[in-house]
Amino acid sequence: MSKKKAKWHVNLLTLFPEMFPGSLGMSLSGKALENRVWSYKCINIRDFGQGVHKCVDDTPFGGGAGMVMRPDVIEKALLSAGDPGRKIYMSPRGKLLTQDIVEELATTPKLTILCGRYEGVDQRLLDAHEFEEISIGDYVLSGGEPAAMILMDACIRLLDGVMGNAQTPDEESFSNGLLEYPHYTRPANWKDAKGNLRSIPDVLVSGHHKNIDGWRLDQSELITKQRRPDLWKRYITGKT
Ligand code: ADE
Repeated sequence: MSKKKAKWHVNLLTLFPEMFPGSLGMSLSGKALENRVWSYKCINIRDFGQGVHKCVDDTPFGGGAGMVMRPDVIEKALLSAGDPGRKIYMSPRGKLLTQDIVEELATTPKLTILCGRYEGVDQRLLDAHEFEEISIGDYVLSGGEPAAMILMDACIRLLDGVMGNAQTPDEESFSNGLLEYPHYTRPANWKDAKGNLRSIPDVLVSGHHKNIDGWRLDQSELITKQRRPDLWKRYITGKT
């Protein structure tokens, strides 16, 4: 019996294939992987390394610390994948991953993600194959694999049939340019470990849906204004 083809596929070029699927093999993304809503294939860059030692890197021209991944080795690994789809290189130098980019990538049927290690990869490889560089934030990880996992996680939860009806992506943070309002559940009156009684906002048990929506929007606006002036500015000026 032939396996059903997944609608969203990722090729991962990595020196550490054993890192995958990692957390993506659990919970909702794990179920979706089992159900072939999405699929992935690791291509071990080491398999394409040079010589008996399967060397994948070398010292940088011009000197300096660290090692650089060789373009010839990565190209062989890339070409082994067949049609690569959209080519992405995870890098702190890339454009910042946003929910808009996640939504775009989740509707792109095939991605090939290059996960770098060491100081990075030879620039000529990125130029020759027109890799798009994407960063998950302004900090430096020891390699691109965790960054690729984060990008994939954010995409997978948007794929059809992954979240079911339990969650509503249209009300979460960023969907309207604002951070999410606070949530509360039972008990309505809760005494914390320090003995403080903590109750919930009255409006949430009023049954008045218009007021509840209004309160939630106010909270979202307040939190966004306080925590993320950059998002707030964009929201009030109506720019994206
Ligand atoms: N590799 C190392 N740091 C990274 C980052 N911040 N984003 C994406 N890839 C990375």
